[in-house]
Amino acid sequence: MCGIVGYIGKNPALPILVSALKRLEYRGYDSFGFFALDDSSHFLLKKVGKISEWEKRLLEINFGGNIGIAHTRWATTGKVDERNAHPHYDCKEEIFLVHNGIIENYQQLREELVREGHQFKSDTDTEIFCHLIEKYFQGNLEEAVREALEKVQGNYAIATISKRDPNKIVLARLGAPLLIGVSDGEYFIASDPAAMVSYTRRVITLDDNEIAVITPQKHFILKEKPIENIDWEIKEAQKKGFSHFMLKEIFEEPEVIREAVRGRMDIEKGLAVLGGLDQASERLDKINNIVITGCGTARYAGMVGEYMFEEYAEIPTKVEVASEFRYRKPLLNERTVLLAISQSGETADTLEAIREAKRKGALALGLVNRVGSSIARETDAGVYNRAGLEVGVAATKSFVSQLTILALLTVSLGRKKDMSLVIGKRILEELNRLPSLASRVLEQADYIKRLAQKYSKHKNFIYLGRKYNYPIALEGALKLKEIAWKVHAEGICGGEIKHGPIALVDESFPVICIVPSDSVYEKMRNAIEEVRSRNAKILAIATEGNQEIKELVDDIIYIPKTLEMLTPILSVIPLHLFAAYLGLELGLDIDKPRNLAKSVTVE
Ligand code: F6R
Repeated sequence: MCGIVGYIGKNPALPILVSALKRLEYRGYDSFGFFALDDSSHFLLKKVGKISEWEKRLLEINFGGNIGIAHTRWATTGKVDERNAHPHYDCKEEIFLVHNGIIENYQQLREELVREGHQFKSDTDTEIFCHLIEKYFQGNLEEAVREALEKVQGNYAIATISKRDPNKIVLARLGAPLLIGVSDGEYFIASDPAAMVSYTRRVITLDDNEIAVITPQKHFILKEKPIENIDWEIKEAQKKGFSHFMLKEIFEEPEVIREAVRGRMDIEKGLAVLGGLDQASERLDKINNIVITGCGTARYAGMVGEYMFEEYAEIPTKVEVASEFRYRKPLLNERTVLLAISQSGETADTLEAIREAKRKGALALGLVNRVGSSIARETDAGVYNRAGLEVGVAATKSFVSQLTILALLTVSLGRKKDMSLVIGKRILEELNRLPSLASRVLEQADYIKRLAQKYSKHKNFIYLGRKYNYPIALEGALKLKEIAWKVHAEGICGGEIKHGPIALVDESFPVICIVPSDSVYEKMRNAIEEVRSRNAKILAIATEGNQEIKELVDDIIYIPKTLEMLTPILSVIPLHLFAAYLGLELGLDIDKPRNLAKSVTVE
């Protein structure tokens, strides 16, 4: 949801900003802009479209300024055009600023500033920062920023440069991520470490309400902070021979399962060893219920977790849409666990749900991929995914990793209750086998590609699943409509199709049925019979060896047999591939589907 980068140091800023911003394009790609400053002049460029389309031309620009900021936009306030692209600036064109976030009282502030004579050039909420800073500026940029921030309500990560107090960048954050990369005689600024891993691994994460001042020689934060090391490989931000990040990340699904369980299983004792939960251990012993929250794909992972926790750990569990959570009256207490699931760790709706749950005394746990992210820091304890950088805007490998860790959590919580050693051991043994089973599913990639080509002429799809695979039907449909957005898809619980949606079904309406050989197999087979008798084209995901179902459907993708609770980890893989290949078949950019952003830091 918008990406910010900045640079100050000894080298020309512009090429560094271009390469850094390109790595943040997944956060928004409606439009972009650059500002750089040297002793006597400035460079400003704002364009609609993707940076990659402009990269070559941008790199040919010869501008030597050693300080600059840049921004890639995912429009919230103000339509997509050059005027609304960042950086924005004040009336005198002296203060330049980029912003990620949303300002809630911007209308009122704008009216006040207009009454005072300020002239706005865009329709964005961001521009009010420039005029407020202009209003309070008396020679010191950070002081003006501090005063301006007192007026705004909402969330922000900002980076600003003033020609009247040059040679410094001032940063501030509240509810949106912002990092400072430290190197020898130079600093990098970014919303996400992905932008700076090729320059430095030493980072400082700004906290909410902090203001930082950076000059080429030093940085100053109101509260001095330690420098941490980030352990990503640069290659994680590369495609490793795949045409798209999304495909690369789907092919990493076996590996993320392996990483998620590595060192976290004592199979002999049937125990999951989740060190991140140690500090919450006493409270976890006494919990009565669990509320899982998250958005989009992360919430669907939570829905699988709900089945797992109730069936195997016997803890009452429910899943809440994070964006609705605090508008209801959630009934929580100190014996409730709120488990927040988030790949980015920055999703504003999920963060607000955590804050609400903590206010009510619940124990907040995080299941987060991004180390040091806001959710990781605001929860009381948690487990990291270790899925590595996910660049494709659609969540794929992070989902598989979330499901794997939910299974580990089931063992961890279940063994504190009545789960037997035998069951604990069985789940862990099977988790150990899963990476190789997942690789077997991926061996069918070419076949799945051909199926995607075959089905690509259809405009509507229904996905059906039951029990553990109901959330997978939702995830399959979400992935298809995101990635192959020219088609519509709906995920429905297998038992619900006859209660209305079946009216849609005819020969032009393919139905994708997730029908592993599990405890609801017969029920799913009934649903297949129901849509088959309405002439639907049926593509089934079934368990290897099931010949019966082959007779009932048009096409079939087999997945290996595993424990029922773990089938979603395998059944989702062909659905991720199917969406990716269908999107490619329709000529779409599967890494950057239209209208989306990877990290949604506005409510
Ligand atoms: C779907 C997708 C989104 C995210 C959702 C939550 O492919 O990527 O639905 O799952 O925005 O994001 P995180 O997990 O970062 O909180």
